[in-house]
Amino acid sequence: MTTSKKAYLLMVFASAAFIVYVLYTNVILDSPTADFLSHKTNLKRALQVHTWMKVMYVHVAFACLSMIAGAVNFSASILKKHRKFHRLNGYFYLVSVLIVVLTSGYMAPYATGGKATSIPFNLLNIVWPAFTVIAILKIKKKQLDLHRRWMARSYAFVFTNLSIHALTALLHDGIGLAYTQSYTISVYASIVLLLLAAEAVNRVVLDNLKK
Ligand code: HEM
Repeated sequence: MTTSKKAYLLMVFASAAFIVYVLYTNVILDSPTADFLSHKTNLKRALQVHTWMKVMYVHVAFACLSMIAGAVNFSASILKKHRKFHRLNGYFYLVSVLIVVLTSGYMAPYATGGKATSIPFNLLNIVWPAFTVIAILKIKKKQLDLHRRWMARSYAFVFTNLSIHALTALLHDGIGLAYTQSYTISVYASIVLLLLAAEAVNRVVLDNLKK
């Protein structure tokens, strides 16, 4: 099996496992959300829990859809056999990303950790759609290689939540840092790590495709 195929299967597996985990914990169990909300102290504005929950459900639904749409579009065989589907699915991915960042824009001012956390979230609200639009513009100019590279950079951010929770667990449960501090550090660290992960994928997998 080629490196790119192995990497693709690993990505599909990670996305599928994470979707099952997110839906199970947030829709079926619901308690992690209540747990998560318990860390929101010292907020500048009162949190409307009912509205926040509704927005969060839309956020999670489209986050999962963006994960699926993106994963499907990285499949070389789907691209080869169903070009029109790839294009439509690509626009669906863009719309999903836009809905995730819009809902994120609502939740960011109430982020755990206050302003220090809402700043990186709002940065992501700009960077993620920007990378996605750049990727689409590249293919409009028939720059296939650059299209793939920018889509890899964009797709890395579907792992934002996974990365934040994994790092928070490491800092909070692992080395005993306060939850809020751990969460804030994890948001910043996730942005850096996901950008680096995308560059690594571009070097290892996409450079390999050229050979
Ligand atoms: C695509 C995969 C993503 C999934 C599955 C996801 C899921 C979630 C979930 C379940 C929550 C509720 C709190 C928690 O349990 O963490 C949440 C909160 C949030 N998400 Fe996402 N998310 C994703 C990506 C993103 C991205 C890319 C951004 C930024 C552009 C973002 C911004 C936010 C914000 C601002 C909150 C509120 C954080 C807080 O209240 O402290 N999410 N997300």
